[in-house]
Amino acid sequence: MKPESTGTDYHLPAGYSAVAYDEIDSTNEAAKRSAVCQGGDHMVGPTWFIARSQTAGRGRRGREWVSESGNLYASLLLRPGGSAGEAAVLSFATALAVAEAIELVTGVTGKLACKWPNDVLWNGGKISGILLESASGKSGALDWLVIGVGINVAHFPAGTDFAATSVAAEGFPQVSPTDLFAALAERMANWLETWRQAGFPPIKDAWLARAAGLGETITARTGTKTGGEDISGRFEGLGPDGALLIKLEDGSMREILAGDVFPAEVGA
Ligand code: BTN
Repeated sequence: MKPESTGTDYHLPAGYSAVAYDEIDSTNEAAKRSAVCQGGDHMVGPTWFIARSQTAGRGRRGREWVSESGNLYASLLLRPGGSAGEAAVLSFATALAVAEAIELVTGVTGKLACKWPNDVLWNGGKISGILLESASGKSGALDWLVIGVGINVAHFPAGTDFAATSVAAEGFPQVSPTDLFAALAERMANWLETWRQAGFPPIKDAWLARAAGLGETITARTGTKTGGEDISGRFEGLGPDGALLIKLEDGSMREILAGDVFPAEVGA
């Protein structure tokens, strides 16, 4: 798992570095290992870890992320300070960066949507997933944050709970993971700067402008395979912390902090 390059081949925004692997277990793991190795060295700038393939790619809620070569696997290691709760909204900023990066490399507009909490859809099919992991010190302040991004570039998995697609399947087989990564790194730096300067409100507005199912009846599935509940109602918006707001039939509002969202008829 020796890195094959240290990012000099990549065009990165100022202040960012990258470590690239041909194959690795998981770019999130590589980033976490590096964070732990660096200890409390907060002088180390934001670093991308990218790989052509992963042998143990991870998705949200303990799921596997199939990671054959041809797709994009990248994780950004940050030390943003603040609490894990404050930084959690960066998943929405990342979804916006992914959608904009895909638009930049394909020239397509109006087809990319954001699905709560942090998926990106093209024509209703999942094209990207995002996995945030973090560790906090004794004071409660974040020690490090890793934002993992998987984008289906050349192929997508079959038989998933929610329909999937890829950049190639949508008519752009010429797009490479490397081109897409350059666009992602640039858009991500932009949204991170917005977050630093203005916090969540502008990110929330931009995300809601692209939100799949806003104003429609949806089902949020909370908990795990063995427990949890299905909550159906009208998707009203996001709370100040990024929670999903659903208006139930009796008019009351539910705040969902973690789960998966389906159109009502699928989730039923
Ligand atoms: C999801 O379940 O939708 C999140 C998927 C996140 C996958 C990415 S691929 C790069 C990084 N490394 C991992 O092991 N997972 C994330």
